[in-house]
Amino acid sequence: AVERTLSIIKPDAVAKNVIGEIYTRFEKAGLRIVAAKMVQLSREQAEGFYAVHRERPFFNDLVSFMISGPVMIQVLEGENAVAKNRDLMGATNPKDAAPGTIRADFAVSIDENAVHGSDAPETAAQEIAYFFKSDEICPRIR
Ligand code: CMP
Repeated sequence: AVERTLSIIKPDAVAKNVIGEIYTRFEKAGLRIVAAKMVQLSREQAEGFYAVHRERPFFNDLVSFMISGPVMIQVLEGENAVAKNRDLMGATNPKDAAPGTIRADFAVSIDENAVHGSDAPETAAQEIAYFFKSDEICPRIR
């Protein structure tokens, strides 16, 4: 089924100037960018986005990293978009990520791992709504 997923290019990858290379991977895999914005997240925004991780030991470092510079946030649309984006990203820890995945190629550590992607269609809907109003999303018409 055609799905949408939320993707974030994290501060490490924005700083490395590889937004375009990552977008190319989405597009070559058949995913369309139907909404996008570059944002310097506030601490409150980052804490809210990652609220499910609030009790995890890495939470404070995660939030500090996510506000260390601008992020590029996009909605990807396409057949099986949630799983497809996760395949493109590779494992959370770049040391475990398969060769040719975004994290294997651009990330250095589990903390600075280049990209975020929703893990299921339900969380995708929540994450998309967290950052985008419905009229900011431009689905493919034809
Ligand atoms: P992300 O998909 O953005 O979701 C939460 C982030 O926390 C994750 O990517 C990692 O960058 C970061 N993180 C740091 N340590 C861990 C860990 N032990 N397990 C999962 N995520 C971690």
